[in-house]
Amino acid sequence: MASGVPDAGPAAKSDSSVPRKTGGRRKLVRPRGKRGGIKNRKGAHAKKIALYHTLEKQIARTSDATERKKLLAQQEQLGGLAAYQDQSTTGSDKLRGGESAKWCVKVLRELVDPQASANTGAKDKTKATTKAATKLSVLDVGAIAGTSYAKWKSWIDATYIDLNPRAPHVHQSDFFSWPTDNAYNLVGLSLVINFVGDLRQRGNMLLHAHNYLVPGGYVYLVLPLACVTNSRYLTHEHLREILDAAGYNIVRQEDSKKLTRWLLQQKATLPKRPADPARPHWDGRVFKKKELIAEKLISEHLVAVFSKSYCPYCRRAKDLIQALNIESSKVGIIELDKDSNGPAIQNYLLEKTGQRTVPNIFINGKHLGGSDDLSNAQSTGELSKLLASL
Ligand SMILES: C[S@@+](CC[C@H](N)C(=O)[O-])C[C@H]1O[C@@H](n2cnc3c(N)ncnc32)[C@H](O)[C@@H]1O
Repeated sequence: MASGVPDAGPAAKSDSSVPRKTGGRRKLVRPRGKRGGIKNRKGAHAKKIALYHTLEKQIARTSDATERKKLLAQQEQLGGLAAYQDQSTTGSDKLRGGESAKWCVKVLRELVDPQASANTGAKDKTKATTKAATKLSVLDVGAIAGTSYAKWKSWIDATYIDLNPRAPHVHQSDFFSWPTDNAYNLVGLSLVINFVGDLRQRGNMLLHAHNYLVPGGYVYLVLPLACVTNSRYLTHEHLREILDAAGYNIVRQEDSKKLTRWLLQQKATLPKRPADPARPHWDGRVFKKKELIAEKLISEHLVAVFSKSYCPYCRRAKDLIQALNIESSKVGIIELDKDSNGPAIQNYLLEKTGQRTVPNIFINGKHLGGSDDLSNAQSTGELSKLLASL
């Protein structure tokens, strides 16, 4: 084990007695339409991929063997993992704008050999100008046909694994079962984590990557852009927090039209182990959007008010706060009746504070209460102390 970080969790494979078919090592087929004669219906690839992902999530969630069997049969009807891979490979040219691993290689090149990268007059900054003394080693997970890093053989030595390999040089292995004897400079998790149906297992995958990294090694994480822009669970900011908690610094982050790409570096000091040894760096908590919105308002403002625009008590509290002449950027107000996430945020506040009513007021990150609590705190002088406290 390279980093001394223990295995993050159980294998991704389900322990169910119903076996998963992987489709075997069949030749990768581009469905006709992309390059073939029959015109492909726009978005058909994306739809089939989305349907496969939905089934994968449902399989991860169910504990009912009959239901699981039914869902697996539905995946098989779609052509199984092999057809999913075909769809995903065909869609990927368009999805990535033909970029494949190029973005990652370009950033790596700048990091590993900044001078050569800057000096080369060539348009393609990923090309090595000199023969590399030691090649960078890459473990590419979910590699399908194992072509991502082939162009840069002169300075990148790639090992490819997939649950269902589609070329002889790609090893058939679940990431969680791949031996930890070798350490790599980079672990590639391109469009793999989003494939995993179970949310906790997604986090485990990030943590598991530590097991294969040389100290300070890199992880290349790629997700569909919609995972952070159109999700109930994830935003860029939340992903940053997750990555930070999982022991990674963000070296570079860029979104393309369809993808969000992150080059991460293992932190010098990894997060301390929580008490539960089954989850060394991960408390398994998945924040939801309602929590993120509420916590952001509270943490980013001296005074945070969850209000309703028609509520007279809220009006009274807001007037009192306005009279305090606090810089406007330090006061954050959400009108829950005008926000589509309002009811969910109100439920979250009930869980957090035991208070369902509005206004629900926080000062300096601390819960104060409602309108009466605010007036009382003002008359006792407590409010000034809270506003001044750090
Ligand atoms: C959408 S494809 C990603 C292909 C490629 N990396 C890319 O960027 O286009 C997802 C691949 O991840 C593989 N995969 C999913 N979970 C895996 C795991 N635990 N271990 C190894 N491969 C896995 C699947 O078999 C599938 O081929």
